[in-house]
Amino acid sequence: MSFPTEPGSSDSEESVFERRESQVRSYAHSFPTKFVRATGARLIDDAGKTYIDFLAGCSSLNYGHNHPDLKAALVDYIAADGLAHGLDMETDAKEWFLEAFERVILEPRGLDYVVQFPGPTGANAVEAALKIARKVTGRSNVIAFTNGFHGCTLGALALTGNGHQRGGAGVELSGVSRVPYDGYFGDGTDTAQHLDQLLSDPSGGIDAPAAIIVETVQGEGGLNVASYSWLRQIERIARKHGALFIIDDIQAGIGRTGTFFSFEPAGVTPDIVTLAKSLSGYGLPMALTLLRRDLDIWEPGEHNGTFRGNCHAFVTAAAAIERFWRDKAFETSIREKASILRARLESLSKKFGSRAIRLKGRGMMLGIDVGSGNTAAAIVKKCFENGLVIETSGPEDEIVKCLAPLTITQGELEKGLDILAAATDFVLADRLKATA
Ligand SMILES: Cc1ncc(COP(=O)(O)O)c(C=O)c1O
Repeated sequence: MSFPTEPGSSDSEESVFERRESQVRSYAHSFPTKFVRATGARLIDDAGKTYIDFLAGCSSLNYGHNHPDLKAALVDYIAADGLAHGLDMETDAKEWFLEAFERVILEPRGLDYVVQFPGPTGANAVEAALKIARKVTGRSNVIAFTNGFHGCTLGALALTGNGHQRGGAGVELSGVSRVPYDGYFGDGTDTAQHLDQLLSDPSGGIDAPAAIIVETVQGEGGLNVASYSWLRQIERIARKHGALFIIDDIQAGIGRTGTFFSFEPAGVTPDIVTLAKSLSGYGLPMALTLLRRDLDIWEPGEHNGTFRGNCHAFVTAAAAIERFWRDKAFETSIREKASILRARLESLSKKFGSRAIRLKGRGMMLGIDVGSGNTAAAIVKKCFENGLVIETSGPEDEIVKCLAPLTITQGELEKGLDILAAATDFVLADRLKATA
């Protein structure tokens, strides 16, 4: 595949990425090659080397790269001169998406959300959720949790726990009270009860919240899983204290944990839901803020943005919903693959002991805590050498996180896990010997 660009005029030995691109990039450092093609769960670089993809665009590619049904829908739409960009005007592409979303996703689940297109990214969806929660309740404080990650724009960053990213803000991040997530102090402490007590105490020091925002599984924060009963308690606490209950389903949603919305098995009904990442199904930018119907008190244009009408994303999102969510077959296949993934990671943990390797996560959002960022980085590096792209998460980047496409074949999944197991063997055997 070639593009009609002239080679650069620089005599430099450095690539144009090193010469011209900001140092802010991070994945490029972990995976130092130039990718040129991708299909399903496989990436191919410019040397022709194939990698199994356990990164999947950080869960933006749950249906894999270039899924043929989604590609066909998009190619047909482009070939027919369908609109690419529609601001927030009515287009046939948006209609296809909204109708599919209503019929296949919302109605069967008994959900009556109004759909807001807040802008292309997850952070846009979070910003819109924050604004509407504050506008509806007239309160400004929002409760967020330790190790939460909600994006890097200033409002979303104020909700985010990660000190490295917060440090990039350059201004005070305000309007948020941080409280401990489920399990933050270990099994013995009920952090939901702790939150209720703080909010119930007029001298608890937490201003009445507009909202409580939570991830059901903390993706960037280290694959911490909230129990279903804890989520139900948080929903009750939000209602009791007049706060809106927001679930940020940007990473855990769209099948990643086994169901379309990650909160379905918990039996909760959030007032607001944020979705992005795999929503378009094709890696095209698209986000949603779902609002309980009575919360939709926006004035026209009050929350705005040029890229709220990505028709290409609407087309692939509609195609993905029709292809994967009309019956239970996809959910069943996610469950089957998740049990293979869990069994293989459990056997690694058994081999090295649960102190050296601890399993974390839920569904196809599973990983291993290997105790240190250095160890995790060494495993990721070895995996990359052997043809597996996989990343880390957690406060010290100590978790090796498997985010394979949900459409990965069993053979590819097993092969990726073989590479991960061999890399873990290689790195841990050495380190455990050194500390023996
Ligand atoms: C739970 C969660 N919320 C919000 C975001 C931000 O999304 P985006 O990077 O598209 O702004 C992310 C991104 O990783 C996320 O995992």
